[in-house]
Amino acid sequence: MIDQELPVQHDMSRPVWRGSSTILRRVEPRDWETVMALESSSSYQRAWERVTAPRSPEQCREWLRQEAAKDPLDDNFLLAITDRETGVMVGCVNTTQADPVAGRFHLGMAVAPEHQRQGYAWEAGLLVLGYMFGERRYQKAQAYVHDFNEVSQAGMLAFGAQLEGRLRRHDFFAGRYHDNLIFGLTAEEFFAAHGPAHETA
Ligand SMILES: CC(C)(COP(=O)(O)OP(=O)(O)OC[C@H]1O[C@@H](n2cnc3c(N)ncnc32)[C@H](O)[C@@H]1OP(=O)(O)O)[C@@H](O)C(=O)NCCC(=O)NCCS
Repeated sequence: MIDQELPVQHDMSRPVWRGSSTILRRVEPRDWETVMALESSSSYQRAWERVTAPRSPEQCREWLRQEAAKDPLDDNFLLAITDRETGVMVGCVNTTQADPVAGRFHLGMAVAPEHQRQGYAWEAGLLVLGYMFGERRYQKAQAYVHDFNEVSQAGMLAFGAQLEGRLRRHDFFAGRYHDNLIFGLTAEEFFAAHGPAHETA
């Protein structure tokens, strides 16, 4: 989907799913407790999508089973962000609405409060963006971020994304409507900002 050669030399020895402090792996049913702990926070639910009634362990395991069973070639995936040293799952990162014709996909991520501000989301985002742009030939990542989610807005700008639009009164939280901000990042912008990763396998 990218017409021209990207303006960077790619390091073929770079591990795609491993960063200096993070390994990304497919979620599994055994992750249900971590996922439900994340979802037990209303502020997390608001940031991720919206507040819902609590789900049951059974429903959570079934959802994770479906995610785990997906074909690796499916470009809509949910991965566990794990600490490279301990293997502990600290959060998750996902792609949704992957459109191979237009070459667009949506990126989302969440890190448990006790593991935040340690660079996990940053590294997970770079790995997934590197995979989608560098291996799957997508050309644009998008993220919809609620107007009150300043941390995520700062994070998207740090990835090199641009604010492309504001959907007014797009969601309803805590008794009132909120705008949704659309961030977009092209493959060229990503590689120009971050270049190839240097770590070797
Ligand atoms: C957004 C989120 C995933 C960030 O996770 P994290 O692992 O703490 O993020 P990182 O440590 O990798 O930080 C990456 C960058 O994000 C921004 N950021 C992260 N936490 C921040 C904070 N508390 N205040 C301001 N900026 C912050 C910064 O730009 C940061 O870079 P810096 O540390 O060099 O300033 C996490 O806060 C979260 O799970 N929030 C709830 C769910 C959510 O909002 N998901 C995104 C929906 S669009």
